[in-house]
Amino acid sequence: MSWRERLARAWRRRVFTHELLCLARREVAMPVPPGDEKLEQRLVMRRATAADALLWQESWAAKVPWYLERLKSATEFCWLGIVDGRLAVHCWYNRGPYFDPMMKHTFDPGPSGAYFGEGWVHPDFRVGGLAIAFNRRIYGEVLPALGVQQVLCYYATDNVASVKLQARFGFVEVGWLHHWKILGRHGFARAAMPKGREQGAEAAAATTDRTRSPRT
Ligand SMILES: CC(C)(COP(=O)(O)OP(=O)(O)OC[C@H]1O[C@@H](n2cnc3c(N)ncnc32)[C@H](O)[C@@H]1OP(=O)(O)O)[C@@H](O)C(=O)NCCC(=O)NCCS
Repeated sequence: MSWRERLARAWRRRVFTHELLCLARREVAMPVPPGDEKLEQRLVMRRATAADALLWQESWAAKVPWYLERLKSATEFCWLGIVDGRLAVHCWYNRGPYFDPMMKHTFDPGPSGAYFGEGWVHPDFRVGGLAIAFNRRIYGEVLPALGVQQVLCYYATDNVASVKLQARFGFVEVGWLHHWKILGRHGFARAAMPKGREQGAEAAAATTDRTRSPRT
């Protein structure tokens, strides 16, 4: 990494960063899109427990203590996807409102809802359909079995992979937020959605009032 890139990264981390976040919602009962059956056969999925600390070591060593703490929560849970014995994918969910300790913001999926955050695929397994395979089981089997009826998530609007993934699974945009981090302090404000997309969001909000507006 050049000194310019290092400087830009340090600036973004410590001084100023701005991103546009899209909040999106999915009704769990919606049918799941097709996926790669061969890949699905290789994918072993299970709910994470404290015994998975070792599995997290390869990619998330620094976060293991925090993950173990979160697993003690009555509302938070994590699902893992293992391919050939390696942790290839994980996603975290929270029943009800979730206060994100990094962003210092509460995301509220509404009654019977779950907040979905930290969707991650190991770089060695990306762009091969693994997130699709994992989510097919999450939305087709795991969340319905837990009685979760809708899911709220956010993603940066320039995160192409995430935008495509959520679109494939039928997530509907329900709002956009500006997110600033200035000298370590976070700020949020509603952002205007691009022309033509507000109607989709309004229609989604009108079909059900189960999702409450997030605090901004
Ligand atoms: C986002 C992420 C989970 C996707 O995982 P993945 O296994 O690579 O995704 P898949 O191969 O299943 O592909 C899902 C969709 O994204 C597209 N995609 C994946 N990587 C892409 C990339 N680098 N550029 C463009 N599109 C990409 C695929 O083409 C597919 O699109 P389609 O539905 O139109 O066919 C993964 O890139 C990741 O972990 N990123 C870092 C963490 C992150 O950004 N998490 C999202 C937080 S909301």
